[in-house]
Amino acid sequence: MYPSVLVTQPIHQSALAKLADAGCRVTNLASPVPLTADEIAGHLGPERALVCHLTDRVDERVLAHAGLRAVATVSAGMDHIDLDAARRHGVHVVNTPDVLTEATADFTFALLLAVARRITESDALVRSGGFHGWRLMDELMGADVSGATLGIVGMGRIGQAVAHRARSFGMSILYHARQPRPDLPEHLEACHASLPELLAACDFVSLHVPLTEATRHLIDADALALMRPHAYLINTARGALVDEAALANALSNGTIAGAGLDVFENEPEVSPGLLARTERVVLAAHAGSATSRTRERMSHLAVDGLLRALAGHGPGRESGLKGRAPQRGAPSCKPS
Ligand code: DGY
Repeated sequence: MYPSVLVTQPIHQSALAKLADAGCRVTNLASPVPLTADEIAGHLGPERALVCHLTDRVDERVLAHAGLRAVATVSAGMDHIDLDAARRHGVHVVNTPDVLTEATADFTFALLLAVARRITESDALVRSGGFHGWRLMDELMGADVSGATLGIVGMGRIGQAVAHRARSFGMSILYHARQPRPDLPEHLEACHASLPELLAACDFVSLHVPLTEATRHLIDADALALMRPHAYLINTARGALVDEAALANALSNGTIAGAGLDVFENEPEVSPGLLARTERVVLAAHAGSATSRTRERMSHLAVDGLLRALAGHGPGRESGLKGRAPQRGAPSCKPS
């Protein structure tokens, strides 16, 4: 019997075709909105596999479905899937790491530059007719990026790709990870620091850890209070890493200077305190991986992983940008 696959939201036609070519019977809901766990469970009939998006909820109600063998999420993040329940029910879960690393790192840097150099404010000024020519004492003075210190929280694939970009901009790098990473490329000259040390020392702090119970509200009021008043917070990972209400307070109290945010605690909602701030705050629509090529590769990687799982193999890494060769000898240093 050919495996049946339920696909919740739209994925690329070429990836759907790959499922059909492999002999799967595909139920393509192509839902224009995310599905709740009850809705997904309600659609599951004889399906052995599920392709979902990060906005769908996949918990016990879905994973306990008799016969379900594999779930592929078209995302790197898996915080919308109850992984413990998947393990309990023997359901294989695959995701799409690697292929979005470079696009997300580009976007992280775009946000950092936009907020530091006040690009969106400058754009609004020009469009409103408020630009009256060059002035030495410009009203939209920004912060220097070149020569600044960037703190990277989470030195996985995306954190490292951001570090590469930062080095080209002449930034110094501190990073926080559970363990120091002696395998980091030497030219990054990245120094390991505790989270409090990093927050207290950096001009920009960028988050690149997955959302788990341990990292929820990693950046809360106490963490924000450790940051420098001229510092910026950049988040392209998951909104709930940051206590959004505390961040809105920190911005209005001047605890930190600004923020570049691509993700929000309760997407698609954004706290009114953040929406109200246009000065030194740039908000984006969870678009870190949103390039045509990357999104297509995500669809394919999810389908490839699903087919491997259905064939009884591990998820593997079918595609994606190859990681840079590890080099030994990252310097040991102390944050100043
Ligand atoms: C992911 O894949 O987890 C990203 O958030 C998508 O942009």
